Amino acid sequence: MPETYEIGLGNYDTETRKSAESDFVSFWGKQAESLHWFSKWNNVLDWDPPFAKWFVGGKINASYNALDVHQEKRASKPAILWEGENGESRTLTYRDLWVQVQKLANALKSLGVEKEDRVTIYLPMVPELPIAMLACSRIGATHTVVFSGFSASSIRDRIDDSKSKIVITADGGYRRGNIVKLKDVVDEAIKDFDFVKNVIVLERTKNQITINQKDKLWKDLMNNASENCEAEPLDSLHPLYILYTSGTTGKPKGVLHGTGGYLTHLHSTFKWAFDIKDSDVFFCTADIGWVTGHSYVVYAPLLHGATEVMYEGAPDFPDASRMWDVIQKYKVSIFYTTPTALRMFMKFGDDIPNSFDLSSIRLLGTVGEPINPEVWKWYYRVIGKEKCPIIDTWWQTETGGMMISPLPGLETIPLKPGSGTNPVPGVFISVVDEKGDDVPANTKGYLVIKKPWPGMLLTLWGDDEKYKNVYWSKYKNCYYPGDYAIKDEDGYFWLLGRADDVLKVAGHRIGTAELESCIVSHEDVAESAVCGIPDEVKGEVIISFVVLKENCSKPSTELKKELIAKIRNDIGAIATPKEIYFVSKLPKTRSGKIMRRLLKAIASNDKIGDVSTLEDGAAVTEVQNAFEELQKSMKK
Ligand code: WTA
Repeated sequence: MPETYEIGLGNYDTETRKSAESDFVSFWGKQAESLHWFSKWNNVLDWDPPFAKWFVGGKINASYNALDVHQEKRASKPAILWEGENGESRTLTYRDLWVQVQKLANALKSLGVEKEDRVTIYLPMVPELPIAMLACSRIGATHTVVFSGFSASSIRDRIDDSKSKIVITADGGYRRGNIVKLKDVVDEAIKDFDFVKNVIVLERTKNQITINQKDKLWKDLMNNASENCEAEPLDSLHPLYILYTSGTTGKPKGVLHGTGGYLTHLHSTFKWAFDIKDSDVFFCTADIGWVTGHSYVVYAPLLHGATEVMYEGAPDFPDASRMWDVIQKYKVSIFYTTPTALRMFMKFGDDIPNSFDLSSIRLLGTVGEPINPEVWKWYYRVIGKEKCPIIDTWWQTETGGMMISPLPGLETIPLKPGSGTNPVPGVFISVVDEKGDDVPANTKGYLVIKKPWPGMLLTLWGDDEKYKNVYWSKYKNCYYPGDYAIKDEDGYFWLLGRADDVLKVAGHRIGTAELESCIVSHEDVAESAVCGIPDEVKGEVIISFVVLKENCSKPSTELKKELIAKIRNDIGAIATPKEIYFVSKLPKTRSGKIMRRLLKAIASNDKIGDVSTLEDGAAVTEVQNAFEELQKSMKK
C-alpha cells in the first residue's frame, strides 16, 4: 500500500464533480461560459463517433480570449516575464502583447494570409513565438509550430504536409551558449516549395544569414503595421493549430485542434489543477514546440490573465542551479516541469536547490512521463519543503489538455507518489483488457477514454481514416491513447508507460517506425529494429539493432557515426540512439514480423517468455549478446 500525502490548498468543492457525473454535456456547456463568445453555440456537443463537434454554432477567437478580455483590468499586468539563456530579460504586459499581436496579425494579412491558411512557426523560446501563434489565431490562420530542435528534413515534411503559405523563423536561437542557425534550416527545407510565399525572419542572435527573395524581416513588417486588428469571430470548430507528433507508423501525424472546445478544456483544467490566482507567477519549463508549451505556456495561462515566466534555454545552462535561480528571481509560485528534469536536478544533489530561496513556491506539477515515487518524494521534500501539493498530470498531444491529475484548485484528496489520482471532471476513463472489459482493481490493462471531451483532437490533418484507425479501431467508440495503466483499490490511476511502439525519451515522443525507416534508408542497411531501455535520467533511451546488407561496408565505428549523423540530419538530435548494435539477423515471428516484445524484454533484462513463434532462435541469442555487450560498456 503506497504512502499517501494529505496536502491541499483548502479547496473542497464536491459540486463540480457531481454535476459532471450527472450530465457531462451540460457540465462542459457551463464551463464554456467562462470564455468570451461573440455568439453562443446552439448545441454543446454533436457526437457522431469518432467525430465530436463541441459548441456547434458558437463564434469565438483564441487571441481575443487571451488578450482583449484582459485590457480593461490587466493591461499593465505582466503577461510574460522572459529570461534569455544569456541572462537577458524582458517583460511584456498584457497591453504589450496585445499590441504586438495585432501588428503581426496585420503584417500577416499584408502578406496575403487568410482564414484557414497554414503558417509554420520555427522559432526559439522568445516572446515572438507566442506572439506569432496569437497573431495567427487572431485572423483565423492555422499555426503549425515546429520544435526548433528538428532538422531541415523534419521541418520540410511538416511544411509540405500542412502546405504552409508562410514560415516564421529567426536568424538563430541560443542553446547551451551556441547559436542554432534556424534560418539556414528553413532555407534548406523550403528549397523546392513554390507554395511557401514568404519567410518572416526575426533577428535574435544577429548571426549572418542570406536574405532571399521570399524573406521579410520581422522588424520591417512590424514597423509598417498598424496597431489595430480586430479579432475574427471564428466557428468553435475552426482549426486553431496542427501539431505533428510521432506515432507507431510512418511519418509524424498532424494532430488538429479546434478552438472553442480546446479553450474550454484549457480554461477549466488550468483553474482546477493549478488553483490559479491573479497574484501567482506561473512557470512551465516546456518548450512551446511541444503540446505542453502550446496548452500551458501559451493558451491556458493567458486565458486566465496570469503572469508567467518563459525561459529560453537549457534548464542546466550555464549550470545546475539555473532553474532555482529563475524561481528565486521571479518569485515563481507554481512550477510545472518533467520527471526527466527532476531526475537530473536530483542527481545534482540537494545543496544546489537548498542554497536558493524557493519559499514563493506553493504548487508543483509534472508532465510527460511516469514519475518515479522516489523522485516525487524528492520534489515534495526538497523543492516543495513539504508544504506544496504535487500534481502529476497525464495527457497527450491529442487530448489537448490534462485528463488525469490531482486538482488542488478544486478539491483536497490524499496524494500518492507516482499516481495521477483521478480523471478531471467531465472526463471518463477506464482500464480495460484486450476485449475492452474493465479489469479488476490493481490489474494492468489499457487506458481508454469512454466519452468525448472538449480538448479532443478534431482529426488528423487531411486523414480522417488514419484518425479512425489509430485511435478508435481497437475499442468500439472508445478512444485508445496507447498507454498501460492500473486502477488501484481507491480508484487512483497509475500510468505505466506506452503500450505501443512509441518511445518517451526525456519526455519527448519518438516513433520507432520513423526511426527505423530513417536507418534503413542508409544505403548499407538491410534491416533495423529500435527499442527503448530504461535510463536513470531520461526515463528511457534508444537502442537500435542494425542488419547490414551483404557485400556492403562492414560494421565499424565510422558507420555508426554515419548512421547517427543521418538520424540527426533526418529527424533531429532528440532521436539520437544511445547505442547502435550491428547484428546479422533480427528475431522474427514465422510470419516475418520483428518481435519487438522480445527486443524490449531482452533490453530490459526481463524474462523472454514464449518464443515458440520465433523463426530463428539464434537471432535471440545474438540480440541478447549485443545487449550484454551494451550493459558491460555502460558499466565502464
Ligand atoms: C506520456 C505530453 C505518465 C504517456 C503531454 C502519453 C505520461 C504520452 C504522463 C503523451 C504522466 C504524459 N504520467 N505518462 N503524467 N504525461 N505521459 O503527446 O505515455 O508528448 O501517452 O504529450 O506521454 O505524450 P505527448
